[in-house]
Amino acid sequence: MADTNAKLTVNGEEYELPIIKGTLGRPVIDIAALQESGFWSYDPGFKVTAPVESKITYIDGGKGELLHRGYPIDELANNAEYLEVAYALLHGDLPTADQKAEFFEKIREHTPVHDQLRKFFEGFRRDAHPMAIMVGVVGALSAFYHEDLDVSNEEHREITAIRLIAKMPTLAAMSYKYSQGEPFMYPRNDFNYAENFLYMMFATPADVDYEKNDVITRAMDKIFTLHADHEQNASTSTVRLAGSTGANPYACIAAGIAALWGPSHGGANEAVLEMLDEIGTVENVPEFMEKVKSREVKLMGFGHRVYKNFDPRAQVMKETCDEVLEALGINDPKLELAMALEKIALEDPFFIERNLYPNVDFYSGIILKAIGIPTSMFTVIFALARTSGWISHWLEMHSAPFKIGRPRQLYTGETRRDFVKVEDRK
Ligand code: CMC
Repeated sequence: MADTNAKLTVNGEEYELPIIKGTLGRPVIDIAALQESGFWSYDPGFKVTAPVESKITYIDGGKGELLHRGYPIDELANNAEYLEVAYALLHGDLPTADQKAEFFEKIREHTPVHDQLRKFFEGFRRDAHPMAIMVGVVGALSAFYHEDLDVSNEEHREITAIRLIAKMPTLAAMSYKYSQGEPFMYPRNDFNYAENFLYMMFATPADVDYEKNDVITRAMDKIFTLHADHEQNASTSTVRLAGSTGANPYACIAAGIAALWGPSHGGANEAVLEMLDEIGTVENVPEFMEKVKSREVKLMGFGHRVYKNFDPRAQVMKETCDEVLEALGINDPKLELAMALEKIALEDPFFIERNLYPNVDFYSGIILKAIGIPTSMFTVIFALARTSGWISHWLEMHSAPFKIGRPRQLYTGETRRDFVKVEDRK
């Protein structure tokens, strides 16, 4: 609601810009009146621009606070299952016991994918990056659910959300199995969400005595929760922008997966392990740090656009990381190297002055490595977990009137000039 107005004077004209307060966080200045002024606003990287109103997730970067539907992330990660968090993201509140049972059952019902979808995998080379496969096969779901899907119908939107959350682990595991030349595993509906994903990743049809590991399952579920949503980040904004055209939601999620893949976003967890490979041993850390300080390379897994003190997800992830390493009795030189890097970076003025702290991807990369997930699957796991956030934002957008996203630009190209025939061009 508008409390008071800001004033903008430009070319001698004064414009009243309403200030709007949310329930938490910085108020915004509604700049719609600029339309009349002859100017656009200019904000590369959307550093100070709020293109949407949302009730799903709140982040206070200064305090290191992350709330989903008001619930603090550490309380969710330590007490709730990922699917309960997904329910809260979708519906606004944590489920009651009955709602939980019903939601979990619906997810279980939709874990298998259409058998025809297998054929898509065969079109990829065995060494294709699993994120490339995910962009393709999740986008392909739009071909399976299109004619009968009406995005203006609430029930259709709801079932879309269920299908996506249910099928992502199946597709993610299939992309891994394909790269290994192993047969796909069908989901097992007596397993919970995280167990099922690990089963489809690591079991084989010959493996009749597949055993679950509770520490690993719990860690996996926490990783899902800690990556479930993060308000208007690059991939979520991509899903919203694609969705604002009324596009098929499965195609919108594929667009989100593409945006997530980059090393500045979800690709960072994979990049952390690649960086550790490049550094090699603890003795090489000082030399590597010099390269970071001279801006030759970035320290992957450090820094965040929003968190400038600490990443609350990283705190929970670090505890889980310690638990997993201890429970599995892992003694991997790569993990020792990561810990040495963390210690040096936390004490170095270069990082302290710039408020660069380990982010969620620094520790998630280490845990995933410890539990035997191949590096190329790290970002796929992020995508799997973020699907509940993406589709919640898509649902939120579609449940109220919205406009197509259409930014403006500051044009700095050629001014108007005459066409020159090819034979006259110099
Ligand atoms: N290593 C070294 N220096 C860094 C790093 C880093 N990882 N991140 C930022 N800086 C420096 C940067 O060079 C700049 O220094 P100066 O002011 O002297 O020029 C200063 O810190 C501010 O950086 P910035 O580029 O203005 O920060 P940003 O908010 O635009 O970028 C970021 C945020 C996440 C893209 C960046 O910190 C980064 O590239 N980190 C490494 C990649 C990574 O771990 N990404 C995962 C983020 S968490 C998962 C997710 O939400 O997707």
